[in-house]
Amino acid sequence: MAKVIIQPDSASLITFTAQRIANMIHATLQLNARFSLALSGGSTPRPLYERLAAEPYASGLDWAKIYIFWGDERCVPPEHTDSNYQMAYEALLSRVAIPKENIYRLRGEIDPTQAAADYEQDLRTFFADENELFDLALLGMGDDGHTASLFPGTAAVHEMEKWVVAHHIEKLQAWRLTLTPGALNRSANIMFLTSGGSKADMLRQVLEGEYQPATYPSQVIKPANGEVVWLVDTAAAAKLTPKP
Ligand code: 6PG
Repeated sequence: MAKVIIQPDSASLITFTAQRIANMIHATLQLNARFSLALSGGSTPRPLYERLAAEPYASGLDWAKIYIFWGDERCVPPEHTDSNYQMAYEALLSRVAIPKENIYRLRGEIDPTQAAADYEQDLRTFFADENELFDLALLGMGDDGHTASLFPGTAAVHEMEKWVVAHHIEKLQAWRLTLTPGALNRSANIMFLTSGGSKADMLRQVLEGEYQPATYPSQVIKPANGEVVWLVDTAAAAKLTPKP
């Protein structure tokens, strides 16, 4: 069962999440030489990335030991305004002392099938133990229940063997690159960051409804040996059944 943490508003949600991530990085780096972090796209995480780029995190985190990946990417060049890489670069990566070699991006500018195969290879090389991928994967949820670029009704939602796929999303009329449940469910920690009233009905459906991942892809995120935490604001949590 996923854990849900509710914060009063979107500003406190960002403050809380940044501190939780920083605590996790510090704790992991006490034991391990590196911390692997998969970032999400969309609009919700931008203020989180900006917060992590500010003090106390800019100089308090050991950025040289942090390795950055993405859960999904749009098929556009890295300087494009729709690029998830570009958003994270502007908001965070260009502002902290992270070595360029620590940044593993999905190449939205090349043939999507090739980009997916290349990223799969990058992941399989980086993660020596194929059962333990990211220390932390950040995810968001769309109003339709998608997460990463795992959209309702797509085969990618059920992909457990391949770690990365490229697929054409009919309703967006666009190609997307996405990590699959086969990869994301090998994370040690997953944090879903969800805010705003437009997500309230879907959040209830995903967390309290029947298990129907083909329709509600966020439900498929259930790491075998990891923890899932939903970090939400009161607006997004408005339709959840109150806990006694
Ligand atoms: C993307 C995503 C996507 C996102 C959700 C939520 O590239 O669009 O990674 O899965 O997390 O669509 O997006 P918002 O934060 O904009 O609501």
